[in-house]
Order: sequence, then C-alpha cells, then structure tokens
Amino acid sequence: MSGFPTVPEAPADMLELARVMKARAYAPYSRFAVGAVVRGESGRLYGGCNVENAAYPQSSCAEAAAITALVAGGERRVTEALVLAGGPDLVTPCGGCRQRLREFASDATSIHLCGEGEVRTLTLGELLPLSFGPRHLGQNPDQ
Ligand code: THU
Repeated sequence: MSGFPTVPEAPADMLELARVMKARAYAPYSRFAVGAVVRGESGRLYGGCNVENAAYPQSSCAEAAAITALVAGGERRVTEALVLAGGPDLVTPCGGCRQRLREFASDATSIHLCGEGEVRTLTLGELLPLSFGPRHLGQNPDQ
C-alpha cells in the first residue's frame, strides 16, 4: 500500500469488451463511436455499439444495444454498466439511455464513464435522480 489515493479504474473485463464494441460502432454521420457494456446478475457481460442511420432519428445508442443483448440473453438485471467513447471528454449516457438503464438497474448501480485515459464512476441515482421507474406502475417495489 503506497498511501496514495488510487486512481479510479474501470473493471478490466468491461473495458476490454467496450473497446471491441466501440471499434464496431457504425457512426458515419456523427463520427462519434461509442461502446457500452452491461453486466448481468449472472456475471456475464453484454456489449453494444451505436448504430446510426441516414434517417437520423432511426439511429440507436450503444447502451440501448447492450441492454437489448442482456434481455435477449435471458437476463433482467443490470448490476454494473460502462460507457466508452473517444475524445477528451468523458461520455455520459443521454437522457433516454439513463432511463433505459433505470428499467433494469437500481439507484445504487455503478455506471463507469470512460474517455481517453480517464474514468469516472457514478451511480445511476446520481445520473438520474428522482427517477420514474417500474415501481410507479405497481411492478417490483424494489425497483
Ligand atoms: N451515443 C451513444 O451511443 N451513447 C451515448 O451515451 C451518447 C451518444 C451515440 C448516439 C450517436 O450515434 C452518437 O453517439 C452521437 O450522438
């Protein structure tokens, strides 16, 4: 132990998959490639990338793809998420993707935001305070 504060690090397995996902992004219009990874309760990782469309509103975000992969993989809970983009600034999930994460995660779920060489970890509750979720519609009261 050096006694120095540790630099926050993203989980290596998530970062590795996010890099692959980001490299596969289809973003010819924005040229802003994003990779996202979610971890399910099983511990398995699910990745996604952004896929744009010439009809711009038909584009989809990396987080949406990762969440879809998790659900298609038979899981229902996100225990951790990571978003990676290039550029000097940390990427933060858009409002819609915060809500998408909210459906399958809790306020305490860690969301790792990654840029070039920088990582910041926030909770979903910090990214989306006072959120509307399944419990408002009489679903699982813990959600
Ligand atoms: N994008 C994501 O995929 N995730 C984010 O968290 C932020 C934005 C995508 C959408 C679009 O393809 C491009 O980045 C620029 O907005």
